[in-house]
Amino acid sequence: MDLNCYKEKIEKWIENYFDEKPESEKAFVEPMVYSLNVGGKRIRPILMMATHKMYKSNEAEVLPFAAAMEMIHTYSLIHDDLPAMDNDDLRRGKPTNHKVYGEAMAILAGDSLLNEAMSIMFDQCIDGNLNKIAAGRIISKSSGIEGMIKGQIIDIRSEGCKIDVNELKEMHRNKTGKLIVGSILAGASIAGAPDAHIEILKSFGENLGLAFQIKDDILDVEGDASLLGKSQSDGDNNKTTFVSMYGIEKCKEFCDSLTKECYDLLDKIDLNTEDLKAITEFLLKRNY
Ligand code: IPE
Ligand code: IPE
Ligand code: MG
Ligand code: MG
Ligand code: MG
Repeated sequence: MDLNCYKEKIEKWIENYFDEKPESEKAFVEPMVYSLNVGGKRIRPILMMATHKMYKSNEAEVLPFAAAMEMIHTYSLIHDDLPAMDNDDLRRGKPTNHKVYGEAMAILAGDSLLNEAMSIMFDQCIDGNLNKIAAGRIISKSSGIEGMIKGQIIDIRSEGCKIDVNELKEMHRNKTGKLIVGSILAGASIAGAPDAHIEILKSFGENLGLAFQIKDDILDVEGDASLLGKSQSDGDNNKTTFVSMYGIEKCKEFCDSLTKECYDLLDKIDLNTEDLKAITEFLLKRNY
């Protein structure tokens, strides 16, 4: 499937979801909707849907979880941009949430996106479907202290001080890798994928997630700001990144070899993995 089809379906689902809120709630959800609607590649929900589609055609069962994942990711970006964190002014080509609504509202918009995601997933699990409950568990764990938040803590603590390569990898594995692996495994879980595939898909996600953050670190240095649509602040914030540790050329080699490993892993699955391969290629070549 054209990757844009997945993107359109996710965006439509999110749009309908907030349209259905009562008129009296609209002003309260506006800052959440602002950051969701300004765009984004939607790579995590696309990965979830593409993985699910390898096994099942019923995409209605995965869409709410895919939207929940995008809400969690968007919350992580709103908080990541706050003055107390990366202090950035531009995100997805628009002023960051706190620049528009102020810091207090941005914190609350992030909190409410996380809670909205959880309630969407609980609604889906109310019928007791164990595959969906397992997916909800994967998504909540990958977002929390054993996942994205842990990585963000390592990231903030590492500002201005030397960390070794193991800590750097642990940071990337968690702050970025866990939501990517979680998206893939949630899609697999909802579809009831066999355990042997889950193991391969997990390794695929880990390699893809690392390549994704190394590419993010490269773009922070040599990306075109107008295409990237976000501030390039790693240098100003004295972050330890793959680029600061290894230099640009070595990082490009890492991205190439991690991408190759992704293809090799997908070749071990005897199903149609074309969409996952297309996403992998898009992420390697992206300039935003
Ligand atoms: C940015 O994620 C934050 C990282 C984990 C590097 P994306 O590059 O997926 O951001 P959007 O969603 O496309 O804006
Ligand atoms: C943030 O990493 C990852 C998140 C959990 C949001 P970065 O700080 O490098 O992400 P960008 O470059 O601001 O998107
Ligand atoms: Mg950050
Ligand atoms: Mg940042
Ligand atoms: Mg970055």
